[in-house]
Formats: sequence, structure tokens, C-alpha cells
Amino acid sequence: MTDQKKLDIDTALGIAVAHYRQKTPKSRAHYDQACDAMPGGNTRTVLHYDPYPVTISKGAGCIVWDLDGNQYTDFLGEYSAGLYGHSNPAIAEAVVGALDQGIVLCAPNRYETELAGLLCKRFPSCERLRFCNSGTEANLMAVSAAKVYTGRNKIVVFDGAYHGGVFYFAGHHSPANAPFEFLIGEFNNVEKSAAMIQNHGADIAAILIEPMQGAGGCIPGEPEFLRTLRESADRHGIVLIFDEVMTSRLAPGGLQEKLNLTPDMTTFGKYLGGGLSFGAFGGRQDIMDLFDPRRVDALPHAGTFNNNVLTMAAGLAGLRDIYTPERAISHNRLGDEFRNNLNRVIAEHDVPMTVSGIGSLMCIHFQSETPRCTNDSVKVDPRLSTLFHLEMLLAGLYIADRGYMSLSLALEKEDYETFVSGFDHLLSRHGGLVRESQ
Ligand SMILES: Cc1ncc(COP(=O)(O)O)c(C=O)c1O
Repeated sequence: MTDQKKLDIDTALGIAVAHYRQKTPKSRAHYDQACDAMPGGNTRTVLHYDPYPVTISKGAGCIVWDLDGNQYTDFLGEYSAGLYGHSNPAIAEAVVGALDQGIVLCAPNRYETELAGLLCKRFPSCERLRFCNSGTEANLMAVSAAKVYTGRNKIVVFDGAYHGGVFYFAGHHSPANAPFEFLIGEFNNVEKSAAMIQNHGADIAAILIEPMQGAGGCIPGEPEFLRTLRESADRHGIVLIFDEVMTSRLAPGGLQEKLNLTPDMTTFGKYLGGGLSFGAFGGRQDIMDLFDPRRVDALPHAGTFNNNVLTMAAGLAGLRDIYTPERAISHNRLGDEFRNNLNRVIAEHDVPMTVSGIGSLMCIHFQSETPRCTNDSVKVDPRLSTLFHLEMLLAGLYIADRGYMSLSLALEKEDYETFVSGFDHLLSRHGGLVRESQ
């Protein structure tokens, strides 16, 4: 057996890539075929990684299989939408039950009313709420509502934020972003953010923020920073929007409940549709009532599939029968324990790494301290992150290439233990490369 500790990064990566290619020829062929119809063989940017992604053909519980029959334990959990795992019987029953009653009903249905009521109860800052089809759409609607409500145009967002395909602020302002007048602040910087809001207060319609940046690396918003935003919003009559598309799972009433902060509006997505396409936005009644169709000046909010029965039924079964407040608490406690165990392994190997996050959402970083904002992030040698990602896949552990993980309810104690020992093994082999890279 080669002594991996003595390998340089190019050699270690070369071996991992060769092994990966050898294990996944059908995924490779499928990827080549996909490239003939879709740019880069891809229809969802985050799913691409080098040298090519595996094609997943089947999932059950917390396990997925690729086209070549390789088995992985899924720690990615569909970027947090897969909270219920791949085959939860209550979700499957709800979907099949809804299908039996007709697929496209084109009318209000009984599931949406119960799900909306449940969401308003769990998230009391949402006095009223509306459904849409994605987190991106929820943010588009919330920001647009805030503009109309305030009669202002500027939207404050933060560097490193991700609020959807047209709200991308990771290191730069994407040219494909929606054409709002964005002011981009520094996440967790109290003084700079307060000053920026003070300077532009009369023109700012909304502050849009993830209380923990998810795609940005599971960087928690610091309580003082978030409180300052609440106060500044109040002072200037700005609509404070919490994007809880990811973080709503972190406590029975979302991260806002854990932080004891009340936003004016909240946006939702991901697991709340039971694993099907989902989005929702809600908030103060006086803002949301702009959409009341009985008003002569009502804002239109269309969307053919806003209340599609499959999503509504699956989302309802999930929130009502599975992800109860008690389950939300216990699941996030498990996540905290798991993260602590990974950080213990890192400390034992004395490598400059850390796992950040809250509860069931977390991210591996190649630096000792959790960054407080994008500017704090150490620039990682992409060969190192690719090496770690491929090694995890080769060990049968499915995570995002950027080190992100989202724990599903289907994971069992043994799965967490397997991951911790796989991670331990990986650091034994390649910990030296991490140290050398810094
Ligand atoms: C915080 C946050 N907001 C919004 C979105 C966009 O949601 P969707 O992919 O459903 O459009 C995401 C997706 O990852 C997200 O993480």
C-alpha cells in the first residue's frame, strides 16, 4: 500500500481521480451524453464537479446508488430539501393519496389551507403566507412586495449570500442576478452595515438576509449583527426579510425562534415541500395583504403550480406528522453532536480545518476558525477540496464538493459513526497535505 502521507497533492489527486474514473464508467458515459443536450451536461450548477458527477439512479432511506451500482450514504440530503430521506413511507403515502384524487385540480385544495395554517403557527412572524415553487421565487416575491410596500427601490444583501439563481452574491455580484438595486454589505460587520443603512435608509425597501449563510459555508449570523439589522430596519421603516429557505429546519420555529428575532417577512423552501418543488413567503399581515385578490389594487401573484396537490400533500404530511417540534429539536441536537465529533477528530489530527454550522446543517472548511464572512475565508487550493470530495465519494460518503452537509432524518447512529471514522481515516492519509497547503 502506497504511503499516502508522502504523496504530493498532484499525485494524491491523480490517484483519486483514476480510482473514481475506474469505479464510475457508466456515470462518465451518461455525462458525455448529457453534454450533447445541456451545456456542460448540467441543468443545476451546484451539481457539477470535476472530473464529472456521478449519476444517481436510486435512493432509499439515507442510501443512494449510482449507475454503476456504487452505494453511498447520503449526507448531502438534497442540499437540505431531502430532510425526510429518499423513501419516507408517510411522505410516499401522502403523494400517492393525493395522486389518487386527481393530479391538477385547478382550484384551492384542502392541503394548502392546512399547510399554510401550520406554517403560520410554527413561524408566528408569518401572520399570512403564500406558496410558490422555489426559494428563488419566494425571495423574488418578498423583495418585490417590500418595494411596493415601502415605495423604495434599494435592497440590502450581504457578500457571500445565496438567495437563489438570480440572487448570487458569493464573492461577486453575478451578472445574471435579477435587476434590483442591490447594496452589498459585509456579513457580520455591525458598524459597516449600520453605517450603510444609515446612509441610504430613506431609499432602502428591504434587507434580505440568511440568518446563517448556507451556501456561503454555514456561517452563522452573529446575534448582535442580526439585532442591529432589526433595529436599523425599524429606525428607517425597512422591511427585514429573513431567508429561512435552509435554516427554517434548525428549530421548531426556524432560526428566528432560536435567535429570538422577529423579521417582517420570511422566505421558505426546500424540505417544507416534503422533498418536492416548494417555496413560500410570508410575514406581517399589512404587507402580505397587498396580495389579497379582493382588493381593487391587489398585487398579482400568479403561479400555475403554487398550490399543486403533490407538494401541498407531501409538505403537510412532513411538517404535521414527521418534523414535529420535538423532532426538530432532537434532530438538530444530533447534528450538533455530529459536528462536535468531526471537530474532535480534526483536533486530534491537528490539521487547520473546522466544521461550521448549526444543528443539522454544516460545512467543512480548510481553515482553523469558522470564517465570519467571505473576506475571512482562506482561499483553498481547489486541488485539495477536489481531492477530499472524491475521497469521500470513494469511501461511500455522499457530500457536496464544497464540504456542505445537510442531515436527513433517515440517518442512523451507525451512519454517523461510519462517517466519523471515514473522516478520521481521510485525515490520517491527507492531513499532511492540508497542513502544507497553508
Ligand atoms: C438560503 C437560500 N435561499 C434561496 C435558495 C433558492 O431556493 P431554490 O433552489 O428552491 O430556488 C436557496 C437554495 O439553495 C438557499 O439556500
